[in-house]
Amino acid sequence: MKITIVGSGFVGQTTAMRLIQRGIGEVVLTDIVEGLPQGIALDLKESSPVVRFEPTITGTNDYAEAAGSDVVVITAGFPRQPGMSRMDLLGKNAEIMRNVVERIAPDSPEAIVIVVTNPLDEMTFLAAEVSGFPKDRVMGMAGVLDSARLRYFIAEELGVSPLVVEAMTLGSHGESMVALPRHATVDGKPLPELVDEATIDRLFQRTRDGGAEIVALLKKGSAYYAPSASITQMVGAIADDTREVLPVSAWTTGQYGISDVYVGVPAQLGRKGVEEIVELDLNEDELAALREAAEGIRAKCEDLSKL
Ligand SMILES: NC(=O)c1ccc[n+]([C@@H]2O[C@H](COP(=O)([O-])OP(=O)(O)OC[C@H]3O[C@@H](n4cnc5c(N)ncnc54)[C@H](O)[C@@H]3O)[C@@H](O)[C@H]2O)c1
Repeated sequence: MKITIVGSGFVGQTTAMRLIQRGIGEVVLTDIVEGLPQGIALDLKESSPVVRFEPTITGTNDYAEAAGSDVVVITAGFPRQPGMSRMDLLGKNAEIMRNVVERIAPDSPEAIVIVVTNPLDEMTFLAAEVSGFPKDRVMGMAGVLDSARLRYFIAEELGVSPLVVEAMTLGSHGESMVALPRHATVDGKPLPELVDEATIDRLFQRTRDGGAEIVALLKKGSAYYAPSASITQMVGAIADDTREVLPVSAWTTGQYGISDVYVGVPAQLGRKGVEEIVELDLNEDELAALREAAEGIRAKCEDLSKL
């Protein structure tokens, strides 16, 4: 697998580290800042004898080195600062996304694209439009991260290992994230049997605000360890063709009564990208929340064409 990461900032570089340490493939790390990807790549290679992995990484400012990529992860763009919403990044990051996709797509026509740049669902749509790639080969990373945050918060609340907690969030990466408490379990037991409704609401709200909580603490920039872990899980599923079901921003074609918009849904990931969107058994409230999230994203994507 040849995996190109566009953007060598915090998310890009931690993703590069995780991918090469796991031996998932050959990584090409790029950025517009001269020397940055080269420096990060060299630093990572120098850690290889100690950590024990094959140093299969190149840092470059030249898109030619990304040609023939199997997977392209796009992390280029501005992160939030304290007090900003993800949507405040729309205009600036749309320009970057257009530029990146125009340069990367022609030489990697078979690539699967994973968008990370915020605002996530809208940037994923833009990447699909600009690349002209089949929509099942373009997806966004947010649901794995939001679900991981939720799983951690549940574990912390109950004083159990995060490893025994399962939970999934759908919808948008932001305020319209859809909570699915009925589908969350701790050691196999449904979450609603273990905590009261007020606690569930608090945990889900903390998850919705999970990115902002970290932005407020860091003061400069946003989260990257949990995001890079989430990207790595998605790339791993694609590289190993595991067909595991992960929540990702995927193009809908009628699932859940939603069409022609990118929104967070459970999807089987494999060598072809999004192999299939999985339809969970949602109740009316959950379905309504998911459809509302989808309509919000659709409206923002329409705004994109006016920029
Ligand atoms: N989807 C998610 O769940 C999620 C999670 C975390 C961060 N993010 C988003 O990911 C993006 C990156 O976050 P970060 O913390 O790594 O930011 P960062 O500022 O550390 O890194 C961004 C990098 O992009 C580079 N860049 C800018 N324009 C470019 C271009 N045209 N071509 C190539 N590279 C370019 C910058 O030079 C910089 O190195 C932000 O938009 C952030 O909001 C999304």
